Amino acid sequence: MADPLIGVRRVGIAGLGRYVPEKILSNADLEKFVDTSDEWIVQRTGIKERRIAAKDQYTSTLAVAAAQQALDDAGMKGEEIELVICATVTGDQPFPATACRVGMEIGAKNAGGFDLAAACSGFVFATQVASNMIASGQYSKILVCGAEILSRILDYKDRNTCVLFGDGAGAAIFTTLDIAQRGEYLGGSISMKGGAEDVLAQPGGGSRHPASLDSIEQRLHFMKMGGTKVFRFAVRVFAGLVRDVIEKYGKDEIGVIIPHQVNQRIIESAMDQAGLPMDMVFCNINKYGNTSAASVAIALREAYDAGRLEKGKLVVMPAFGAGMSWGHTLLRW
Ligand code: UT7
Repeated sequence: MADPLIGVRRVGIAGLGRYVPEKILSNADLEKFVDTSDEWIVQRTGIKERRIAAKDQYTSTLAVAAAQQALDDAGMKGEEIELVICATVTGDQPFPATACRVGMEIGAKNAGGFDLAAACSGFVFATQVASNMIASGQYSKILVCGAEILSRILDYKDRNTCVLFGDGAGAAIFTTLDIAQRGEYLGGSISMKGGAEDVLAQPGGGSRHPASLDSIEQRLHFMKMGGTKVFRFAVRVFAGLVRDVIEKYGKDEIGVIIPHQVNQRIIESAMDQAGLPMDMVFCNINKYGNTSAASVAIALREAYDAGRLEKGKLVVMPAFGAGMSWGHTLLRW
């Protein structure tokens, strides 16, 4: 784990936002088109419902709504933002970056921007990129979004995947700690192990399997997943990341753990392995399912609204996903 930043600018969070589409897809709705049941989904995952974007909404639409809330929370205007980082694997299109449209729609006239593709780890990685760019002095106000419309890449004939995921967006504005006055960035980690395209991927549409009649017939543009492998990997890395924080700071310093909202059972198993009670975790997976890069971002804003971010205490955000990739961001609220 990296040391707290020393000899550089201290960084904090000035504003948080989240947005989820209005349409709810319940487990009972899913029972109508795949061979599944509310009982199976709730027992195996903890998910009761998820949100689905409307036809005229794009990933940027969701990100902009979350970003506006974060700007309001920070008391900032879009034009003050200098850099937009959008973590997503379901951008409006492969290119240009979704961040470009988000920046334009919030009025960030002078900002730079790019997308960051690290699947479910995306927001947590992007918060570290932003924090370090502010710490270095290169930028002072960065908008980080985690936004996904996973329903557009789900195969609603594949019960192994379609019940698990949903759509949504979250956003955070990073700036220097003297302005933000809260959410000090203490460090984090970014890890990966390649060669897992058969475990979790959207195989079609890239240079490996460009779009063709064949790729469509083989349904390669939909997400494919080996759920059990992801399950074991997620429990192991999540518990390991939390244990590292405990070793360095002590259990009592932790105020809340806001993990990637992957599966209630994964979260419970990892917390058990880390030796921590479930009441230290913030969970909203029952309402939204797994929203990939948006999940930690949405949960962070909801934890804030629920009064779960305690002044002076650590906020630990572990995430993990396709790649395989994993890491965490550590804040002191
Ligand atoms: O952000 C990372 C993204 N990845 C994930 O979120 C997935 C992580 N993994 C998981 O959440 C779990 O592995 C699952 C929820 C996907 C599956 O739970 P499991 O306890 O690992 O179940 P399983 O894979 O052992 O499957 C048990 C059975 C299988 O039937 P058979 O082969 O034993 O007859 C599956 O076909 O459950 C069946 N099954 C379903 N049954 C009803 C799989 N999906 C469903 C479903 N409804 N939706």
